[in-house]
Amino acid sequence: MANLIEIRDMCKVYNPGENEVRALNHISLDIGEKEFVAIIGQSGSGKSTLMNMLGCLDVPTSGSYHLHGKDVAEMLDDELSDIRNKEIGFIFQGFNLISSLTALENVELPLIYRGLSKRERSELAKEALRKVGLEMRMTHKPSEMSGGQQQRVAIARAIAQAPPIILADEPTGNLDSHSSVEILEILKQLHEEGRTVIIITHDPGIAAKASRIVHIMDGQIYKDEINSGEDESAIRAELAKAQENVTTKVKSVRHHEEDDLVVESYEEAPVQEGTAGSGYQMPESVEYTGTETDPNKEES
Ligand SMILES: Nc1ncnc2c1ncn2[C@@H]1O[C@H](COP(=O)(O)OP(=O)(O)OP(=O)(O)O)[C@@H](O)[C@H]1O
Ligand SMILES: [Mg+2]
Repeated sequence: MANLIEIRDMCKVYNPGENEVRALNHISLDIGEKEFVAIIGQSGSGKSTLMNMLGCLDVPTSGSYHLHGKDVAEMLDDELSDIRNKEIGFIFQGFNLISSLTALENVELPLIYRGLSKRERSELAKEALRKVGLEMRMTHKPSEMSGGQQQRVAIARAIAQAPPIILADEPTGNLDSHSSVEILEILKQLHEEGRTVIIITHDPGIAAKASRIVHIMDGQIYKDEINSGEDESAIRAELAKAQENVTTKVKSVRHHEEDDLVVESYEEAPVQEGTAGSGYQMPESVEYTGTETDPNKEES
């Protein structure tokens, strides 16, 4: 049987030409149904770029992506928005809730795309909010809730349509440690119920909760391991090693240049610390609630 997700030799190059950034550099990745995977890497390593590909939010420069055995490049726009609405539940660091709507209305909104009646939408949304423990907050607006509660609303929105895949990009990035634990518990529960959960993070403590950890560095997967021990310090050490590795590569490029050899230049696409991610915005093409507001507005 085909894997749920099959990515082959995928590249994503931003600004092709002189100032190009190779955000994904020949990535191949298989993810099976019902896996619980963390994709971990430093800032600028290509995590959000990879998430955009996994979520069919952006197209790669080269390489292929098969979802359920189907080539995503060959899908029509309708099929793609169906996948984004029904197959995948997105959770973002910045929650991306609409400030003028209540928790219930925020969760109901994407259900409109499924052509459900008002009553059906309301039932599904209430059930999802109950599931994340927010039955007492349904009529509250985002500004009347804590960060952890807002993220739980965002999770309720993601799961209301019962998507088999949950994609979360730094879901606890804006939360204190107590709320982070709660959110991780919910994600773990969603996995136990039979969903495929993919968390993108730079935090070894978060990655340690997943059953499989994929390390990404400089747009490449350099380690892919089953996580049996939840050993946070080992993951932390691996991250540090990745950073060292980048430095080593730059050195070796210089060495080759002296010998007049043509080599891949890591200096043209340096790892840019802190350049991306924290202000993640949904691409315009997504027919999802977050497009209707400025997600940054909600983060206060
Ligand atoms: N739209 C874009 N145009 C040009 N370069 C981009 C664009 N988006 C991302 N990049 C670059 O691609 C690389 C990977 O970015 P990406 O957002 O995937 O990193 P990340 O691992 O998610 O980082 P963070 O942990 O900070 O969120 C970075 O060097 C970034 O500067
Ligand atoms: Mg990011």
